[in-house]
Amino acid sequence: MLSKEPKLVLIKATKLKSFGRRRSNSFWFPEGIRFGKRYTTKHIYTKRLYILWLLTLLFLSFLIYNFLAYEYQILHICHNNIHRQQIRYDKNGEIEERDQLDRRLPKCIIIGVRKCGTRALLEFLSIHPSVKKASDEVHFFDDNSKYSLGFDWYRKQMPYSLPNEVTIEKSPAYFVTDSVPQRIYQMNASTKLIIIVRDPVTRLVSDYAQLAANKANKNRQMASFEDLILVNGDKINTSYKAIRIGIYAMFYSRWTQVFPKSQVHVVDGDRLVYDPFPEVQKVEQFLGLSHRISRENFSYNSTKGFFCVRFNGTSDKCLNESKGRRHPQIDPQVIQRLRRFYASHNRLFYQLVGKDFGWPEF
Ligand code: A3P
Repeated sequence: MLSKEPKLVLIKATKLKSFGRRRSNSFWFPEGIRFGKRYTTKHIYTKRLYILWLLTLLFLSFLIYNFLAYEYQILHICHNNIHRQQIRYDKNGEIEERDQLDRRLPKCIIIGVRKCGTRALLEFLSIHPSVKKASDEVHFFDDNSKYSLGFDWYRKQMPYSLPNEVTIEKSPAYFVTDSVPQRIYQMNASTKLIIIVRDPVTRLVSDYAQLAANKANKNRQMASFEDLILVNGDKINTSYKAIRIGIYAMFYSRWTQVFPKSQVHVVDGDRLVYDPFPEVQKVEQFLGLSHRISRENFSYNSTKGFFCVRFNGTSDKCLNESKGRRHPQIDPQVIQRLRRFYASHNRLFYQLVGKDFGWPEF
């Protein structure tokens, strides 16, 4: 995630309909009469005071009815400085088209692949003024209990957007969950899908580093990399989930049995690390957006060892420390064995997507 900025909170104030305004008056007006009666009806001079009190109440309720009875709705909470520039104001200083702001189902979903740069891609894309991202992974389609809550629940997890903007969410578990392609198709057959991939061996080591870090946070120890990926210290453990995720061709074919290939864009995750701009530019094109992200939006941070987002030409926002972890040293022979295992699957994947990623085979 991008580091935190002072929050920008956008609040929509809508005047209550006449019914609501009457209701807000009907709460305190009778209370006011009761209060007046109790203290002002004992003497003749206080009766006059009572009439004055009633007139004041009438005047106050007129004011509330016409000027004060609003309901407040939070439209947008934002930690990200760049979004301040994305809110459009009309010449009266009002937020333009605010009545059309709504939470919408995503037009595009980053479906995976886990540990291939999904977060970096989402953050980079959200530089574009027409892209609205769901900040958290929603896991709507791969989690049956969430899916049973329905599309309206899903829609409410999305950020506010205008009709011509592109709402994007990312949940990398979608890529490898059987039921998800059909479920997304049922929601909207024209949903655009993005898959980001990198050398499956690097992906596997990154996955292991993340699992080990999570365990360490709970004071637990992780089995060694070699123990997890080899059966009897010899054969590749093909039933280990982290190994299976890297067989991209197998999962990719499931998606293209449901969606046309033209709706599935594949991003080169290795390239996103060392030269993100061209990859992001291709996604702008895929989404039918004007090119609004430029090279100047990226700056290489030598401490982090990765590109960060550059705001206003000066301040940089890097992904947090859970992205770009130090990888453990793995026995080179084990790495070689993994490369051989993935080689044929990779070649099939290159054929399916029509691009040779050149991942090492030995
Ligand atoms: P490592 O932490 O193992 O290096 P995901 O967001 O899908 O979990 O992917 C995490 C990976 O994104 C990181 O894996 C890192 O290599 C990669 N990545 C790509 N661009 C990055 C960037 N600009 N900043 C940090 N990590 C980036």
